[in-house]
Amino acid sequence: MAMMLQRKVLRRTFGEGKAILNFNSNPVLSPCTSFSTVTSAAATPFHNAPRQLPPFDYQPKPYNGPSADQILEKRKKFLGPSLFYYYQKPLNIVEGKMQYLYDENGRRYLDAFAGIVTVSCGHCHPEVLNAITEQNKLLQHATTIYLHHAIADFAEALASKMPGNLKVVYFVNSGSEANELAMLMARLYSGNLGMISLRNAYHGGSSSTIGLTALNTWKYPIPEGEIHHVINPDPFRGVFGSDATRYAKDVQDHIEYGTSGKVAGFIAETIQGVGGAVELAPGYLKQVYDIVRKAGGVCIADEVQTGFGRTGSHYWGFETQGVIPDIVTMAKSLEMSEVEA
Ligand SMILES: Cc1ncc(COP(=O)(O)O)c(C=O)c1O
Repeated sequence: MAMMLQRKVLRRTFGEGKAILNFNSNPVLSPCTSFSTVTSAAATPFHNAPRQLPPFDYQPKPYNGPSADQILEKRKKFLGPSLFYYYQKPLNIVEGKMQYLYDENGRRYLDAFAGIVTVSCGHCHPEVLNAITEQNKLLQHATTIYLHHAIADFAEALASKMPGNLKVVYFVNSGSEANELAMLMARLYSGNLGMISLRNAYHGGSSSTIGLTALNTWKYPIPEGEIHHVINPDPFRGVFGSDATRYAKDVQDHIEYGTSGKVAGFIAETIQGVGGAVELAPGYLKQVYDIVRKAGGVCIADEVQTGFGRTGSHYWGFETQGVIPDIVTMAKSLEMSEVEA
């Protein structure tokens, strides 16, 4: 699922096959000049300059594993055909160090996408590695029917970053599962069935969240429950420009014409990630949260791609809209590929 998702995100954001930048040779992207620290007068035009990654004091370990060709052959034989890869000769990534990845020949790449905005502390960060190693030496598995301080400490730490009454944490296994649980809770709490999500949204690929997701590339012909996909308030390409009130009216219309007048909840990313980094019209969530709450619904913020400071300006994406949701879901970045959602 992660790979499928990555393909979609990258296609939307960069065009096909351009996830990892390698400036050493054969650059796959034209670098953006605004990243340069050199003044424009002094800068050599980028297309003439030799493209090089900055120095990095790390020597990847010699790689003695199977070659890219051997791995590809085995993948084709033993893994499902839904897995795909980039490039005619796909990269065999064998090591990661902070913001860089290394292929089987020791060539260094800048991981510009942090593994679908997931690896927020870089690859193999020494502090993360140390914490994992120390814990593994002590105790590798326990369950919630016994006590362990870590889960309570972690919940407390997360709650401390949340505004309002958002003080209770549920741990699950993925972003999809978090959204499934949020939807289940919204339905049980409200006693209503209908959920509202935005067109162009991605909320997961599990059998329930696939209904919330509103991108045809991620849909399959299965029952989806009662889900209303309202117009996404895209301030640049949307039918109503950045007029939040007109988009909010579409939510009201769906409730009035498509439901009994009551809904279970509303879910939205504050920046649509898989849909191509699409922001919401300013002030949209405030108006919609009011409408949804009046219809008995619960407001859910999906922070899987926007939480943990990744918007740059705020810790949570929903803060950019000045709202406090009833439920917040998160996964990537929190997980660092180790723990989840
Ligand atoms: C906004 C958003 N919500 C939910 C998910 C689902 O998360 P997971 O792949 O961990 O199930 C994703 C995955 O990319 C996502 O981008």
